[in-house]
This record gives sequence, C-alpha cells and structure tokens, in this order.
Amino acid sequence: MADKQATLTYNDKTIDVPVLEGSVGPEVLDIRKLYGQTGAFTYDPGYKSTGSCESALTYIDGDEGVLLHRGYPIGQLAEQSSFMEVSYLLLNGELPSKDELDDFTYTISRHTMLHEQLSTFYRGFRRDAHPMAIMCGVVGALSAFYHDSTDISDPEQRKIASHRLVAKMPTIAAMAYKYSVGQPFLYPDNSLSYTGNFLRMTFGVPAEPYEVVPAVEKAMDRIFILHADHEQNASTSTVRLAGSSGANPFACIAAGIACLWGPAHGGANEAALNMLREIGTPDKIPHYIERAKDKNDPFRLMGFGHRVYKNYDPRATVMQKTVREVFDALKVNDPLFETALRLEELALQDDYFIEKKLFPNVDFYSGVILSAIGFPTTMFTALFALARTVGWVAQWNEMISDPAQVIGRPRQLYTGPTQRDYVPVGQR
Ligand code: CMC
Repeated sequence: MADKQATLTYNDKTIDVPVLEGSVGPEVLDIRKLYGQTGAFTYDPGYKSTGSCESALTYIDGDEGVLLHRGYPIGQLAEQSSFMEVSYLLLNGELPSKDELDDFTYTISRHTMLHEQLSTFYRGFRRDAHPMAIMCGVVGALSAFYHDSTDISDPEQRKIASHRLVAKMPTIAAMAYKYSVGQPFLYPDNSLSYTGNFLRMTFGVPAEPYEVVPAVEKAMDRIFILHADHEQNASTSTVRLAGSSGANPFACIAAGIACLWGPAHGGANEAALNMLREIGTPDKIPHYIERAKDKNDPFRLMGFGHRVYKNYDPRATVMQKTVREVFDALKVNDPLFETALRLEELALQDDYFIEKKLFPNVDFYSGVILSAIGFPTTMFTALFALARTVGWVAQWNEMISDPAQVIGRPRQLYTGPTQRDYVPVGQR
C-alpha cells in the first residue's frame, strides 16, 4: 500500500486514492480501483494526465528540457556514446562493459540479413510507394518468417526477436530506399559498424566500392541515438497496446511504425523540411509565423511544439550542432539552415510561441542534416523508425515482464443513441 493517500469525494462517497512515487518526477494518483469503488471512469483524451504503465527506461522533465535514458542525460549519450551502446543500455538497463558491448555488437551483426524471400515481397509494392508504407508492410511480414522467436512468454525468444528487429531494420530501410530509386538491393557488410553498414546499403552500389565518411557515420549514429526512445509517446504506446494482447512482436512493431508515420509524430521531420523549402528565404518567415498563429489556418510550424517539452527539446540542441558538423564534413552549406535558424529566432521572440511554450523539437533541424547526407524527405521518418525500434522493443519487453500489465483497454464517455428497436429497411 502506498504511504500517501489522496481523497476523492464523489456522489457523497469519499474514497482513498493511493499516491505513487517514482524515482523522480511528479507523483501519480493510482486510480485503478476508481471504477470499482465509485462506478465512474476518468476522461482524458490524448492521455494528457494519464500514466499508462510503470517504466524504468526513459525519464523526461518537459519543463526543464531534460531527457534521461536509464538515468543518463541524452546530451552525454549523444556526445560520448554510440547507438549500439545506447541500444544495449535501453535493452539491458546498464551500460555494457567492453566485452558485453563487443558481444552485443557481434550478435546484432549476425542478424542483419533478411530472409531472401522478403526481397520478393518488396517487389509487390508500387515503384512510388512511400518508404513508411513499405516499412509497415515488410516489418509486419517478418512475423511470417521468424516463427522461432514469437513465443512471447519465453524471455530468450523475446531477446532474439528484439535483436532481429534492431539488426534488420537498417537492411529493411535501406532496401525501401533502393526499391524507390530502382537500384539493386545491397546485402549487409558486417565488417562495417551498424551505422556505416546502413549508409553503405543505402548509398552504395554493387558496381563500385563504397567508402563510409567517418563524420557522416558519426552524425548518423548520433541521430539514431537521439531517436532511440522517448518514453510513452504515441508510437511506443501503440506498440505497448498492441503487445498487451500478446500479439506477435514483429506485428507490434509494424503497428508502431504505422503510428509514427503521422505528421504530428515522426512524420514531422519530413513535414518540417518541406515547410522550410516552402518558406524558402528568411524574408518570408513573418508571413508563415502569422499563418501558424491564425486559428482559421490549419498551418502549424512543423518541428515546433511538443506534448511534453515546454522548454527547448534537448535533442534539438544536439541536432542543431550536428548540422554544422555535417556541413563542414561534406563541404556543403544549405541556405535552408539559415532560414531555420532565423525562423527559430523569430518564433522564440513572438508572444504566441512564448505563451504556449512552443520550442523547436527534434524534428526541426534533422531534415536539414538528413538532406545534406543525401536522403530524400520520404526517407526521414523511415530513419526515425529504424532508430526508435530499439526503444519500442525495450518498452515491449518491459511491459511483458511486468506482472502488473494486463491487456490495454480504455473506457469511453458514450454520447451515441440510447437503446432503441431495430426497424426493418422497408419501414424506415
Ligand atoms: N505551430 C503553431 N501552433 C502550435 C504548434 C505549432 N507547431 N504546436 C502547438 N500549437 C498551439 C496549438 O494550436 C494550441 O493552441 P490553442 O491552445 O490556442 O488551441 C497549443 O499550441 C497547444 O497545442 P496542442 O496541439 O493542443 O498540443 P499537443 O500537446 O496536443 O500537441 C504537437 C503537440 C507536437 C502535436 C504539436 O505541438 C504539433 O502539432 N507540432 C507540430 C508537429 C511536430 O513538430 N511534431 C513533432 C513532435 S516531436 C517528435 C515526436 O516525438 O514525434
């Protein structure tokens, strides 16, 4: 029983509501018994005040702009760690020793190939299919191929399914890209790093050797770290909800990819760059800021605002710095970066954005970098999905191991007709 209790009075009845405390962050009112005790549900569309689970993976303090994975600040991980190390951390709870990291990296590299039949599956998609449509389909299709890792009650099988997903995602994303440009698929090269291998499978061709540019590899790896997990966001909650019924792990991740695709979530990186291209030069910015503020105009500043961050998204800070590193390494200078910087500056001086606490989020600068590296905008969200897969599987594993978790089943405030008798069609 929780030490602290809140009391709730409803319909002349007073009940105790246990108050739960996490290791850090706001206290949480435990309303699990509310319906049984009062006959009433809570109403919280969008879950603005609702915690759906206990988790030890990721902590966000949106007011202070803090993001921690297993306690480690995202800035430190992005600067000093690698995506493989962060993946191990998310999946296992602690940073690996050197041997553990080598073992994990080796294991992941042994799972990078796809079943050969899956390449036929790709060819069923229209040539102009969006990579996210392909990703949803192909990742869902993995459930038809890897039957030996789908008994979710067996921790070992869950581990293998998790490793397979993390390992195969770069291959799947790169193949989606290759298919869209009409180039042959490239098999993984396990002598390269996780990220280097992905860059080669994406931009290499069988006709000539591909050289990974270290600065690009580092930047890409950092982008993967920045997207690895983000607490109970829409796609992660989708994966957890799908998984709560005991569904196939590959199908659950396909559900997460589908949710991520939306422009309010992972699709914002594509939308943000398209918006910057539409704005073009800094002199047009005031017009677009006015549009974003106009309630009668559906236009929003993409890459701005966040459900949880009411301060600068710490991932955006790292992302902005990475833009310059990539530009220097590739000797490019996209004028859209200047437009983005100026847009941020002007928006952050504007009362509308100040009052609503709207700051740049992770997607605001990522498009400029990804475009400089050579990715078309349609691949941006696919890259997000690739990186977020480790977070999804870590959260999915945590959920399945948690004895308190039951099938997710929200209730509703019903506003439809009350009971009425059926009228045969000829009498209506
Ligand atoms: N431009 C203009 N106004 C905005 C924006 C924006 N980008 N974001 C929020 N607002 C306004 C909104 O109109 C509302 O105003 P009012 O209170 O007058 O009705 C207020 O700010 C609160 O917005 P909300 O939509 O109720 O807030 P939310 O927490 O439900 O939405 C959000 C968060 C991320 C969906 C929203 O900020 C948004 O649509 N941003 C643009 C899309 C985007 O960049 N998404 C990426 C999120 S980060 C990556 C990820 O985790 O997927």
